[in-house]
Amino acid sequence: IYPPELLINNKNYPTDSWTNVNPHILSRLGQNLHRQKNHPLYHLTNRIRQYFYQQKDPRKQSPKFSIIDNLSPIVTVQQNFDSICTPNDHVSRTKSMNYYINKDTLFRAHTSAHQVDLIRSGLNAFLCIGDVYRRDSIDPTHYPIFHQCEGVQLFNKEELFMENRNVRGEKDNLQIFASNEYRDATKQEGHTLEAVKLVEASLKQTITDLFKTLFPNAATLNSRWIDATFPFTHPSWEYEIEIDGKWYELLGCGIIEQSVLENSGLGKDYIGWAFGLGLERIAMIMYGIPDIRLFWSTDSGFLSQFQFEDSTRPVQYKPVSAYPQCINDLSMWMNKTRIDPLDLYDLVRSIGGDLIEQVLLIDEFYHEKKDKHSQTYRIIYRSMDRTLTKNEINMIHKDIENHCQKQFDVEIR
Ligand code: PHE
Repeated sequence: IYPPELLINNKNYPTDSWTNVNPHILSRLGQNLHRQKNHPLYHLTNRIRQYFYQQKDPRKQSPKFSIIDNLSPIVTVQQNFDSICTPNDHVSRTKSMNYYINKDTLFRAHTSAHQVDLIRSGLNAFLCIGDVYRRDSIDPTHYPIFHQCEGVQLFNKEELFMENRNVRGEKDNLQIFASNEYRDATKQEGHTLEAVKLVEASLKQTITDLFKTLFPNAATLNSRWIDATFPFTHPSWEYEIEIDGKWYELLGCGIIEQSVLENSGLGKDYIGWAFGLGLERIAMIMYGIPDIRLFWSTDSGFLSQFQFEDSTRPVQYKPVSAYPQCINDLSMWMNKTRIDPLDLYDLVRSIGGDLIEQVLLIDEFYHEKKDKHSQTYRIIYRSMDRTLTKNEINMIHKDIENHCQKQFDVEIR
């Protein structure tokens, strides 16, 4: 179904068996919502920028963090996975979870793809903001494109232990590295515990202070750190806040794997932290935006609510009006293999675009006698800005059925 080459942003990419980008994704390229003046993501990134600009380098009195927000989302497999030490067989590399242009090139799945290049270019503290792409489930909080802000800060011995003096006012002989240190749950091999604990404190302080400035009522919000795992940090955590009895994961973070710093040419003298936060998730909570598709709305009923200069202004989104939902089920017998739901979600989104609010796998079983799998999906249609007609939805639904038959070898029931 793909031509031998794809022309994207004036560049030709050969296609191969890994190619799985679709026109819906390609049509979104270059929109840069985070740089679109008065967009909610623009206001949010402004506020994050302001918070990090206040942090000054004590010697130079200039901002510590550089901010990079214009790197192309098309990256190499090397950047997105290898450079940050993602194992070759790690699930995050699969075709099922990513948008590949070909076996070597993909739409970045996270802004961590740029860590090594940015450190190598000489930056010791930076934010990297941009659009990221993932094949995922479909519901009001998931969309195949969202935005992340990556933060990285590195420390050499001087910077890390600057404030730690012993009773006589001399610097203790504290070290970042020691050759007899082993990896355990709290730290990597080669790192001293005192170094790791200081970096961890800096990371957690930076993040909790950021959220204190973003959410004026942060003091009354419950938050927690959950142990996590990422190939590029150890130890790692996720940060969650509780709103109306529900916990929301806002970011992943941790102490950067030393081998990632080695790939950046700084493995010898530096230790550092990194975090990656999801901007839509935070903006939805901050502004009360109920559906992630709204970020792509060109409707003035949405955008006009964010037309103001001062990004710190507290606003609550008021729904323009909720148009009715329309629900259609899709049941299929699979002639050979079971469909990966992520493949189905992607097909539905690529045909129905932003008219799809949610897709649920509501029933699945294996029929022994027939030797066939069956799946039933519930597709919930709703437009953000008008009432859809039954006829219009039936046509899209039919189109989805036809594509399923072609792509997956199934019988519609
Ligand atoms: N890249 C991770 C993600 O997208 C987040 C992360 C960034 C975690 C930096 C640790 C350090 O899920």
